[in-house]
Amino acid sequence: MEIGFGKGRFLVHATQANPNVNYFGIEIIRKYQLYTATRLVKRKLTNVKVCCADAKLVLSNSIPPNSLSAVNIFFPDPWWKKRHHKRRLFDEGFVKSLAPVLVPGGWINIATDVEEYFQEITALFAEKLPFLKGEPWGEDSPDSLVEGHLTNFEKKFVDQGKPIHHVRYRKPI
Ligand SMILES: C[S@@+](CC[C@H](N)C(=O)[O-])C[C@H]1O[C@@H](n2cnc3c(N)ncnc32)[C@H](O)[C@@H]1O
Repeated sequence: MEIGFGKGRFLVHATQANPNVNYFGIEIIRKYQLYTATRLVKRKLTNVKVCCADAKLVLSNSIPPNSLSAVNIFFPDPWWKKRHHKRRLFDEGFVKSLAPVLVPGGWINIATDVEEYFQEITALFAEKLPFLKGEPWGEDSPDSLVEGHLTNFEKKFVDQGKPIHHVRYRKPI
């Protein structure tokens, strides 16, 4: 599952590269969902579904427990102004809703260019899901279903030489 897939670069590439893996994307902005859905349909990709919804609601109400191999959250909106931080995707409820939906051994893969948000995210995991140990990952990391596929944001930041923070968590087997 990819949360906040935006223009869908990662989803299109990963879906094409892994025809035996089923993908599911959630995007809250309708025009991005339609844009990405069009890209997927043009390529006749059938191992993927995308929906337009708030991932917080979908995760807490509609995803069966132990059902996902990986949840990918790449470049969540930072909501820079302090008074807007409450709009951030990562909060206590969201972080707690991630572990139950993963299969044992499943991954949560996170990337952001925002150092301060990265620190907040890792602190939330340490406090709310202490049984999950964080580790860095890169696009060449094995096992996490993210090898080599950059998102639109990541490609832009890599081209600019901007540092990117990656962390992944694995649900115990
Ligand atoms: C900064 S963009 C990154 C897009 C893409 N992941 C990338 O790396 O190119 C963040 C995306 O998350 C989406 N988003 C924000 N909150 C969301 C939510 N609660 N549920 C689903 N998508 C969300 C935004 O609409 C936006 O497309």
